[in-house]
Amino acid sequence: MTEALKDLCEAGGIDEVFAVGPVPMMRACSELTRPYGIKTTVSLNSIMIDGTGMCGGCRVSIDGKSQYACCDGPEFDGHKVDFRQLADRLNTYREFEQATLERWQASHSAPPGMALADAGRLASAESEAH
Ligand code: FES
Repeated sequence: MTEALKDLCEAGGIDEVFAVGPVPMMRACSELTRPYGIKTTVSLNSIMIDGTGMCGGCRVSIDGKSQYACCDGPEFDGHKVDFRQLADRLNTYREFEQATLERWQASHSAPPGMALADAGRLASAESEAH
């Protein structure tokens, strides 16, 4: 994806880029457009949890200032987002999440590697059958 964007940036004529999706992709797009001076807007709705400004899950540093995606965004200037800090924070519970997923899958007889959504559908089907 970033190769195609790089080709477009090099060709010129782009006024603004909108990046919506996973945080690593938005980060890559922002870093790619930075040297070209192309305004890049990212949508951080993917990091929101309750969307009320209460949980703090969507806190992000924008140009050194703490903001909340749900209250202050979710669109931000991608060149001002501290993506390194955001990625670190999003990975804080990765180990615990993986362990919990594996325990859940084991207790629901989900085959290793089954996607969480598929495992969830399996669990729903099992509970409806009882
Ligand atoms: S989603 Fe909870 S504070 Fe923004």
